[in-house]
Amino acid sequence: MEKKPIGIFDSGVGGLTVYREIRKKFPYEDIIYFGDTARVPYGPKSPQTVIQYSLQNARFLLQQGAKIIVVACNTSSAVALEFLKRHFLVPVIGVIEPGTNAAIEKSLTGKIGIIGTEGTIRSNAYMEAIAEKIDSAEVFSSACPLFVPLAEEGWLDHPVTKMTIRKYLQPFISKNIDTLILGCTHYPILKPAIRKFLGKEIKLVDSAIAISNELKEILPDKETESLGKSQFFVSDNEEKFQKIASLILKHPIEPIKTVKLGESWYIE
Ligand code: DGL
Repeated sequence: MEKKPIGIFDSGVGGLTVYREIRKKFPYEDIIYFGDTARVPYGPKSPQTVIQYSLQNARFLLQQGAKIIVVACNTSSAVALEFLKRHFLVPVIGVIEPGTNAAIEKSLTGKIGIIGTEGTIRSNAYMEAIAEKIDSAEVFSSACPLFVPLAEEGWLDHPVTKMTIRKYLQPFISKNIDTLILGCTHYPILKPAIRKFLGKEIKLVDSAIAISNELKEILPDKETESLGKSQFFVSDNEEKFQKIASLILKHPIEPIKTVKLGESWYIE
């Protein structure tokens, strides 16, 4: 029987943190990854634009034969997931619900912090998902837009990164949270520095790990003779994608193909 791939999309390279976790848990699955590097960032864009891009991204993955769509991008998951679910027949999963479930499981006090892009925080998607499950929860959220370029620059332990972490996260310490959701694909890259600042008492929820655990529940990984293949598509700048990919995955990736998405699309 023909092997159909898992399709993953993100606004760019950050979704490789999700790819990394899924690859670890599904060594025999084929995976197609699409990073919309021409139109990144999604964080500051309007919901309408993010929905339109997300539909195009998912359609492209389906045309490559994807049997399931994993929306690695938190901003897309926050504003476009319901549209994608309604639009396509294959299962579509996003990071909000798995991240929420993981946070609720970890939190003892119900004081939960959420950080993400402006779009994710503005959407209130995590807040509402938590409130639906525990109405006594006290949830605090804040957009941390500067974390994205710092992660992409590879400034994992740089003084500027430490200052930025302090500026964004100090208020969460004052609020006495016991759990923090890293609600953006890029934030797991800064996890060691964030952990260093917050200390061990505050638990971190990595939405990349959370969604790969959820996928494990709905997709049994069948052992086959051959290991799964990975294919990477971007909409611009393969070199930059390759550079940051090596930072996230600790090895270069190939092949990377460029595809222009719009109403119609073509692989260059
Ligand atoms: N991938 C985006 C997210 O997880 C972060 C980068 C962007 O703003 O596009 O929300």
